[in-house]
Amino acid sequence: MIHSATFWDKAAAKYANDPIKDMASYTYTLERTRSYLRDSDTVLEIGCGTGSTALLLAESVGTYHGTDISGEMIKIARSKVAETSLPNLSFEAHPALDGIHEHDGLDAVMAFNLLHLLENIPSTLNAIHAALRPGGLLITKTPCLADSNWKIKLLLKLIPLGQLLGKAPFVQSFTVAEYDRMIEAAGFEIVESGNHPVSPPARYIVARKI
Ligand SMILES: C[S@@+](CC[C@H](N)C(=O)[O-])C[C@H]1O[C@@H](n2cnc3c(N)ncnc32)[C@H](O)[C@@H]1O
Repeated sequence: MIHSATFWDKAAAKYANDPIKDMASYTYTLERTRSYLRDSDTVLEIGCGTGSTALLLAESVGTYHGTDISGEMIKIARSKVAETSLPNLSFEAHPALDGIHEHDGLDAVMAFNLLHLLENIPSTLNAIHAALRPGGLLITKTPCLADSNWKIKLLLKLIPLGQLLGKAPFVQSFTVAEYDRMIEAAGFEIVESGNHPVSPPARYIVARKI
């Protein structure tokens, strides 16, 4: 199977230019996320891609650091931030877990459209939990592909072939209920959740470290 960094490096330029598929859902969850952030917060976004969301949220916090396994994604993110006046925003190329382990006492950790791409979600959630201050927030949006319609489920069956050909990344499939349970099992209390969009469900969760 193609290595994640290689797959996402190749995808970076196209990813940067692709329009957001459901702008209403994106705007809604961005606003909900903003409502939890304070201007003194130190936050980490893992799997930040080309930094589009980071650029929109950085003004709402004190320090915003984005990491991503793909050096090409981070190159694009850095070029975008160079065109802004956001001195509190920085990016670094890291696998998700390395990116978390370097931090502690964080006010929030965010991961958008990332967790289903990781091989070990429970250990990532445990590492996020350890990096947060008591009461700190995990804010995520994750496609729960096991709850999608038959067409998407059919496409999912082609993923192993796509992976063999280097055309698909590693992807995990789980239901909304299974996803919620993973987050609670890592020591979080879910304070807000919803599916935005509803189908296939992209599960938006704000969870507080207990
Ligand atoms: C679907 S994109 C989402 C990007 C961005 N968060 C967004 O919502 O637009 C997934 C991102 O996760 C990154 N990624 C995949 N596996 C990763 C890993 N193990 N550690 C860190 N980042 C990873 C990819 O490089 C890619 O930028």
